[in-house]
Amino acid sequence: ESAAGIAHVYRGTFVHATYHTAVEILEDRLLGVDTEGKIAFIGSGKEVDRLSQKWGFEAFAVTQLGQHEFFMPGMVDTHIHASQYSYAGTALDMPLLQWLNMYTFPVEACYKDLEFARNVYTHVVKRTLRNGTTTACYFATIHTDASLLLGQIANDFGQRALVGKVCMDTNNFIPHYKETPEESEGETNRWVINSYPLVRPVVTPRFAPSCSAALLGYLGEIAHNNDLHIQSHISETKEEVNLVKELFPDYDSYTDVYHRHNLLTDKTVLAHGCHLTDGELKLFRETGASIAHCPNSNISLCSGMLDVRRVLNHKVKLGLGTDVAGGYSPSMLDAVRRTLDTSKALTIQDTQYHTLTFEEVFRLATLGGSQALSLDENTGNFEVGKDFDALRVNTDAAGGPIDLINHGEGSFFMSLFPLSIPPSGDDRNIVEVYVAGKRVVPFVEGP
Ligand code: GUN
Ligand code: ZN
Repeated sequence: ESAAGIAHVYRGTFVHATYHTAVEILEDRLLGVDTEGKIAFIGSGKEVDRLSQKWGFEAFAVTQLGQHEFFMPGMVDTHIHASQYSYAGTALDMPLLQWLNMYTFPVEACYKDLEFARNVYTHVVKRTLRNGTTTACYFATIHTDASLLLGQIANDFGQRALVGKVCMDTNNFIPHYKETPEESEGETNRWVINSYPLVRPVVTPRFAPSCSAALLGYLGEIAHNNDLHIQSHISETKEEVNLVKELFPDYDSYTDVYHRHNLLTDKTVLAHGCHLTDGELKLFRETGASIAHCPNSNISLCSGMLDVRRVLNHKVKLGLGTDVAGGYSPSMLDAVRRTLDTSKALTIQDTQYHTLTFEEVFRLATLGGSQALSLDENTGNFEVGKDFDALRVNTDAAGGPIDLINHGEGSFFMSLFPLSIPPSGDDRNIVEVYVAGKRVVPFVEGP
């Protein structure tokens, strides 16, 4: 039992995923959050008098959710490039490797300028929080100081985050946007000693084609010595897979390149994985590494269609990512919808395909993401002892029946809330966001 006192108590409907079920709907529950932001108890709403005596709170101080409201866990974006937010929604007219050279590297080089970085990073943290991302796993750029700023901004706005200073020592197209292996190692060592209460550093080799074997070796060692998270990209496009074969001819596979540099651990998350073999998925399973599925990006850059069902059948952990700006939307609700779309597209190709259900995808956006980031000890669903990372959803918040017609998104919240008919489903329905018990949306305006 929690030793800390009770700070807040909420009464109403709670919807979440558990380790056994994709969606569990808890009606008329009383949930207490302690002064450390952890869930202290979950009981029946009818027992408010007994629970208030036991836990020492005033029954009149309970926050009662409205008729059209419920709480769900905050969503987990397992892969997003904070630095690419500045051009999200543009420049999706070429395949990955050209897109990186033409648009991405030139933009990322601008983060040398800390004021530019502060502006974009403030916007991306606010936008994702408002859209219900309580945990984000960010790529920044190669610049350590700007990456530190991103961590500080996320922490100040109250977003839980893993933040990666990007490492790359190969760049044939924009030669000034890269480091030497020794610079990258030194800066990563300077980077990983920093953390904030809500923010941890993640070791971030960009992807094998941007990294020499020497650099991958350094990074594997740093992650191992400091027990750190690791993130990168893998098997996003076939062209990239072929390039890795050319660059690393002595390795069994793309996955083997990371594995032999100690970069596959149960704290590793690799984005995409559209073209992995069964043998590679087996290596993921054995090491506990996970996949960030980024369907918007995979379609926008014509990279591939990840067969999520196959990954889950291999018992490999998988979360969802927006992959801004390969993906054009910073919203995890979009990632949910695109995941369903991709699964349905696979069903069009093969009518025997076992299409993902809405409930399964809801789980991937919440608890699945927390598991993929090895953060599910503290986040992902409503269990006593976990941090209260939650979205207060009002299905009636976005307007009248016009919205119902204009926004297909309504199905998201409608599916979760059989008790009411929601007009719509987007950030307007997310009326409050909590991270570690603290309300972080609506934003508290500064002086
Ligand atoms: N592979 C290496 N870098 C990147 C990136 O910035 N975006 C995407 N989508 N794939 C990558
Ligand atoms: Zn990416």
